[in-house]
Amino acid sequence: MRFEITTGDPNKIKIDLLVLWLFEGVKTQNQLINSVIDEEKFIAKSGEILLVHTHGKLPAKKILVVGLGKKQDFSLESVRKATGKVVNCANKINTKTIIAPLIADVDAKECAQAMAEGAILASYKFEKYKTKDIKHETLNIEKFTIIEKNAEKIKSARYGLTLGEIMAHATCYARDLVNEPPAALTPKIFANHAKELVVEAPDYTISVETFDKTQLAKMGAGAILAIAQGSVEEPYLIHLRYAPVTNPKFENLNPKRIALVGKGVTFDSGGLSLKPDHHMYDMKFDMAGGAAVMGVFSVLGRLKPDMEIHGIIPAVENLPSGTSIKPGDVVKSLSGKTIEIVNTDAEGRVILADALEYAKRQKPDAIIDLATLTGAVMVALGERIAGLMSNNENLLNKIRAAADSAGERVWPLPLVDGYEDEIKSDVADVTNTHKTRYGGVILGGLFLKEFVDPQTPWVHLDIAGPVYNAKPWAPYHPKGATGFGVRTILNYILNQ
Ligand code: BES
Ligand code: ZN
Ligand code: ZN
Repeated sequence: MRFEITTGDPNKIKIDLLVLWLFEGVKTQNQLINSVIDEEKFIAKSGEILLVHTHGKLPAKKILVVGLGKKQDFSLESVRKATGKVVNCANKINTKTIIAPLIADVDAKECAQAMAEGAILASYKFEKYKTKDIKHETLNIEKFTIIEKNAEKIKSARYGLTLGEIMAHATCYARDLVNEPPAALTPKIFANHAKELVVEAPDYTISVETFDKTQLAKMGAGAILAIAQGSVEEPYLIHLRYAPVTNPKFENLNPKRIALVGKGVTFDSGGLSLKPDHHMYDMKFDMAGGAAVMGVFSVLGRLKPDMEIHGIIPAVENLPSGTSIKPGDVVKSLSGKTIEIVNTDAEGRVILADALEYAKRQKPDAIIDLATLTGAVMVALGERIAGLMSNNENLLNKIRAAADSAGERVWPLPLVDGYEDEIKSDVADVTNTHKTRYGGVILGGLFLKEFVDPQTPWVHLDIAGPVYNAKPWAPYHPKGATGFGVRTILNYILNQ
């Protein structure tokens, strides 16, 4: 699908499909359409669509009237959803070209960005392992043209379109990694994908260092090694670094430095604390935090932010075997703190302990971690909302705002004093599980907090719910991986 932005009157252009956005209670300027709308009792509720064949009475062959709901409920998320719906419908009726105007009274840049995001994210399919019966629906739409009468708006719309394409492609890149079967995305393959992101450009560099088992042992990353020891797949700590090339004359010589940390369990069987099969089935997505970090890095060269960004992914496979870590074992993490393993299925926090210590050593101004850490976050917030925890209210608010404008839902949970006893161990500094059944999301966050410098603003996103859809739930949220987190982090980076 190619995008184009042009100026002109959409009603005068010959095209397969013209989109007509409509708020509830508003009439169009076209009598023919108005009469069909009345006949069909079309109310323009959000998500409602009506396909009208014009039979030569108008230059467009078909008009797709798309409901945007009530004006007072409108947000950019309505644009993403509505454009996703347009694309899904166009694919069904085998349309090659679409024209859609910018929505009146919506900021041109933001509208074009949301339209591009909705269209690309809704077209996403993961079909590389199908050998027959592939419909290739996604290839049907060749051109999506955004049109605007007012030529003055075209420039900012064009900028929004580019941004939307970048955001959506980064998200699809993360989706692809998550959707890969676990055998096709082992820690080693994950590390190799990171190496593909390396770039040396005149104005920025992306470099990567990967630490294998021997190097991790030398470093003292006992927590990552402990979780990986049951698998024949060796662990890797992936460290990506984006840095702008600073010009001593003009540029900020001390750019802000942030660290993004992503849980990278390429398959979580639970280890010796084995998961039941129905809980194990989707556990290839347990590296979705790491995939989100990779998604961000995949487009940094196009966005060129003026800050240093570290991407840190501990990549392991959590399997039971004769060499697995056992409940009762004590491991020494990179920070020197010891962890008693009580349940081998609470592996994410253990590998993140080392990753957060490694992040600390990069001396960042802020740390953001993304992890499919607990099932408890889904009990608390359901499948569509991520838990947001932090030691710094300012950073928490920034991430919350970034998520809101991406249409990714997050909700704050408190990292309160008073629950620490739950993660105290009789034999080590901390235990990786808690005795209570309650408050598992917060206790996961409190465990991670033990490995973060209290002076460094840090945010923990427990993304276990929204990273993977057992069933599609909105036009641009298909089944499988969602790429959750990528657009939130990119917004945060762009807003600095
Ligand atoms: N990867 C899981 C968390 C998870 C569960 C994500 C379900 C998505 C859906 C994590 O490693 C895990 O198993 N956590 C345990 C922790 C418990 C043993 C303290 C959990 O949530 O049950
Ligand atoms: Zn687990
Ligand atoms: Zn896990």
